[in-house]
Amino acid sequence: AEGVVVAIDGPSGSGKSSTAKGVASARDLWYLDTGAMYRAMTWWMQHHGVDADDAAAVAEAAGRPDISMGTDPAAPTVHVDGRDVAREIRTQQVTAGVSAVSAVPAVRERLVAMQRETIALARSRAAGIVVEGRDITTVVAPDAQVKIYLTASAEARAHRRSGELSGSDIDAVQADLARRDLLDSSRADSPLTQTADALELETTGLGLDEVVAILLELTDRAV
Ligand code: C5P
Repeated sequence: AEGVVVAIDGPSGSGKSSTAKGVASARDLWYLDTGAMYRAMTWWMQHHGVDADDAAAVAEAAGRPDISMGTDPAAPTVHVDGRDVAREIRTQQVTAGVSAVSAVPAVRERLVAMQRETIALARSRAAGIVVEGRDITTVVAPDAQVKIYLTASAEARAHRRSGELSGSDIDAVQADLARRDLLDSSRADSPLTQTADALELETTGLGLDEVVAILLELTDRAV
């Protein structure tokens, strides 16, 4: 799998992260969670008192956080200004602000550049990489050898997400996912979109192992 790029897009709760990590681990590839980068940017804004809904203020500060991502699928790390924020970026507060922050073009410009650098670094080391997000197949790596759009029913996605979170109510989770999906797919800059050249994989009713196995077959065929 030398140098292969596997690009995975899809809405929240479609199983992207578990699937991407499973594929990367099985084939010894690097792993990049781009959603974690938008969350890290959002965490920094909130931590520094920048209002996530103030697009001009967010744009002005977008160059300031020092975000660094570990690419080991068994232990992906996220650091902002040297601080481990892996847990803090999953809070309700960050989740509530991330769609607004990620809609700001200056934020996307900077993070997409970082994502492309990581992909180039993987290639230069003859390592493959699995990259997951919302605009990987369309904007970040349209030349990826494997391009997948993962989907699942709204109920299945809410169930998966509420299993990851503790003690949250399913209806609230489903409403939050719907809100984020609407914002992510209706923004002007790089919206979540499904294009004809990415293979759609509907995962409702499939187990993680089955989805990983399908992607491994596609990955092996591509190299
Ligand atoms: O994947 P996750 O749910 O952690 O992503 C958090 C948010 O980051 C998404 O709701 C979306 O607003 C944003 N995002 C994005 N582009 C990506 C990945 C995530 O805009 N490539």
